[in-house]
Amino acid sequence: MADNFDAIVIGGGPGGYNAAIRLGQLGLTAACVDKRGTFGGTCLNIGCIPSKALLHASERFHEAHTDFAKLGIKATVELDLPAMMAQKDKVVGELTKGVEFLLRKNKVEAIVGEARITAAPSNGSGGKVEVKGKGGALRSLTAKHIIIATGSDVAPLPSVTIDEQQIVSSTGAIALKQVPKKLLVVGAGVIGLELGSVWKRLGSEVTVIEFLDRITPGIDLEVSKQFQRILAKQGMIFQLSTKVTGVEKKKTGLAVTVEPAAGGEKSVIEADVMLVAIGRRPYTDNLGLDKVGVALDKRGRIVTDNHYKTNVPGIYAIGDCREGLMLAHKAEDEGVALAELIAGKAGHVNYDAIPSVVYTFPEVATVGKTEEELKAAGVAYKVGKFPFTANARAKTIASTDGFVKILADAKTDRVLGCHIIGPEAGNLLAEAVLAMEFGASSEDIARTCHSHPTLTEAVRQAAMSVEGWTMQM
Ligand code: FAD
Ligand code: NAI
Repeated sequence: MADNFDAIVIGGGPGGYNAAIRLGQLGLTAACVDKRGTFGGTCLNIGCIPSKALLHASERFHEAHTDFAKLGIKATVELDLPAMMAQKDKVVGELTKGVEFLLRKNKVEAIVGEARITAAPSNGSGGKVEVKGKGGALRSLTAKHIIIATGSDVAPLPSVTIDEQQIVSSTGAIALKQVPKKLLVVGAGVIGLELGSVWKRLGSEVTVIEFLDRITPGIDLEVSKQFQRILAKQGMIFQLSTKVTGVEKKKTGLAVTVEPAAGGEKSVIEADVMLVAIGRRPYTDNLGLDKVGVALDKRGRIVTDNHYKTNVPGIYAIGDCREGLMLAHKAEDEGVALAELIAGKAGHVNYDAIPSVVYTFPEVATVGKTEEELKAAGVAYKVGKFPFTANARAKTIASTDGFVKILADAKTDRVLGCHIIGPEAGNLLAEAVLAMEFGASSEDIARTCHSHPTLTEAVRQAAMSVEGWTMQM
């Protein structure tokens, strides 16, 4: 095995493995190093994939319990949690092995071990990466280009120790052995609401503590408010503008002390399990960045230019460990763009058209600017909206909560943002993302033929509503 490569990718998550595959496709020699033991990173091992498997299974369970009767189906439903977890683990196993296969297929050497940069690439000589494998065996690699794709880790809650049994991060929350009677979620962001939904559907009483006065910061406020109303109707309890100040482990469970975010009277909430979901931090521990002089910003993110170059020539960073949304497809697109740039092509990511989806029920899917952002930037815009209550397909599947909202430039009609809360919102959004990528107007969407009866017609009707000619309301 050669130890010299065109590029070494550190991290085998969506950023790293896609960069390595693209490098291989473009004829460059590459190694992809990950210390986890399986490839696919946070996303495949402990993030997107296991959480979506549980969201799907718990949604079916809940549906069978509560909604089948409305459709004229009588069923007796029983939870088999170990089998649900085993199905999730099977999916993860298949997909992580699939990534290894794809790396091999594209002639990338997949190396398991912890990588550390010991020398930066400099004129004429390659950069050096030392990999500590199983049992501490060291292997020295050299390359012209070093790509850091080491991702992110759980942001800690001060003075709270995560044990992944009673006080869990998302990693523990996707592997609980039994359904907690009372689950306390700290943070009303994506993880808190997705995993809170899983356990709520399986029978937990779920209380969500959020520091801010709203849930899902960053999402269009109108959507966010509707989202909270729907989740509250499902039984999720919200305490906004509240902070956790301490946790005590008792024989009977956890006693969690909370107080108003602005300070004030303390109260105690009892819970069996507490999920800490207050964000993620870039992960660059033990990489040797200080030794080679790679600069980090105040939040610990690797500083890069818009071609992913760090301040040290030959070293690049992509994905969660640099700035931007911490999303798998953002990391993936950066990996592809960087591989193309290294191969002398014109790699590029359009950051105005990166979608985000919360996979609760209903789903929340958004791309582009929110109304709040457009107002703050002083951009004149028009709004088109359409509720799922008026969509025929939504009625036939008995799922009419939510709406589609399209924001278009008041002068040019170019689509600036699309925000959907409703059934299949994540899939529906793809049309708006493509429209934005092509610089389409709302009229382009409104005049595109959509199949009937589909949920996609709600997107078309919202686009028609921008110019006030919605036809199905
Ligand atoms: P990562 O996937 O974090 O991969 C980095 C890899 O680098 C890790 O495997 C790590 O072992 C390895 N590594 C680190 N240091 C070293 C070293 N020194 N040597 C060798 N290897 C090293 N995003 C979505 O888009 N959709 C979702 O539905 C979604 N759901 C999520 C659910 C949960 C519960 C979580 C936690 C995250 C979710 N995300 C989701 C976010 C998504 O997982 C991340 O944005 C994505 O994984 C980032 O990819 P990455 O390649 O930058 O890093
Ligand atoms: P988040 O940033 O989405 O939400 C964190 C929430 O915690 C915010 O509402 C914040 O105001 C709140 N918070 C912060 N400190 C707090 C405190 N001390 N007390 C109470 N509340 C506090 O972070 P989350 O949910 O941990 O997810 C991390 C990242 O993982 C996401 O930002 C996203 O990038 C990614 N992710 C994406 C998913 C998807 O695409 N479907 C699913 C899960 C995670």
